[in-house]
Amino acid sequence: MGKFLQFELWKNCHVGCKFCFNKYQPTSNTDDKLVALNKMLYVLNSDEIDEYDQVGFIGGEFFGGQLDTKEVKDKFYEGIDIIIERMKQNKINRFYIATSLIFDLNPEFNYFLQKFIEAKVLKRLMICTSYDIEGRFKTHKEEQLWQMNMLGLYEKYPMLPIHTQIVLTQNFIEHVLDNSFDIENFCNKYHTYIDYNIPHIGYDYRDKAEFDKLVPDFLPKRNDFPKFLHKTVIEDKTIDINRLFKPETKADVMYLIYINTIYRIVNKNYKTVLPFGLYNKSGYIDSDIKIWDDVNTFKEELNE
Ligand SMILES: C[S@@+](CC[C@H](N)C(=O)[O-])C[C@H]1O[C@@H](n2cnc3c(N)ncnc32)[C@H](O)[C@@H]1O
Ligand code: SF4
Repeated sequence: MGKFLQFELWKNCHVGCKFCFNKYQPTSNTDDKLVALNKMLYVLNSDEIDEYDQVGFIGGEFFGGQLDTKEVKDKFYEGIDIIIERMKQNKINRFYIATSLIFDLNPEFNYFLQKFIEAKVLKRLMICTSYDIEGRFKTHKEEQLWQMNMLGLYEKYPMLPIHTQIVLTQNFIEHVLDNSFDIENFCNKYHTYIDYNIPHIGYDYRDKAEFDKLVPDFLPKRNDFPKFLHKTVIEDKTIDINRLFKPETKADVMYLIYINTIYRIVNKNYKTVLPFGLYNKSGYIDSDIKIWDDVNTFKEELNE
């Protein structure tokens, strides 16, 4: 198995999730987007690309109006064409594209899919979307649009893999504990599998308390987490503890373009490259103990 290279091209997104860590980040204009796309093309055309058998693009968002000028659209698809060519040559096994799927799939997203269909590599494309009970969909209509897109994609392209990220918020934990959200039903209904994000407050809030006032029930309470693990890992067997917070889709190398500066991040070591501390702003609302440490303790107890 080769390595996974990911590009975060811009943070722009039309959706505006209440909790999004990109919410107050600078948006990229056409020139900024072209800088990012040119960097991506430079890497795709260099010898470095031979190191990777998986490539991913993440935003922000690319669809729903973000490929908004001809130049941006052309450069984006120049990159997609290079990736598809390498997929046809079996040099790239999988391409991941992150998208909210909260937009009309016609004609933009279908145009994108059509390229993979024509090249007969659709089943090696992976759509990486997200779902959250609170804070993601501003209206019931938006949630219905996401649901319709998920069901419609499966109906039309059953071989197209779709992966869903859910933020492990207090709200989500409570819905799972009182059975108002059923993980297994969700996966079966939408033909998807889930990985979970550790919730964090992003770059723009002073501390967890300030964030919690504006986005309540997001950061989990430490007491509820073992109950959640017991239910999902032991009782329902809907979460594989060895996979929790360790998605296979974690990139080995990521090019992150932030205010026209290009960061090369190895093994997601954001701490060393970004001008802001992020890691101490994630996890429980009521404890500085890392969720990850509690996952490890749970694992050890399970193996005893
Ligand atoms: C920034 S989004 C970009 C891709 C796409 N727009 C989406 O929402 O899937 C990437 C992932 O970050 C997650 N995310 C956003 N804000 C977060 C936060 N404050 N804490 C944890 N995860 C967060 C989203 O839910 C999503 O799964
Ligand atoms: S769809 Fe993704 S990028 Fe857009 S606001 Fe929501 S989490 Fe952030």
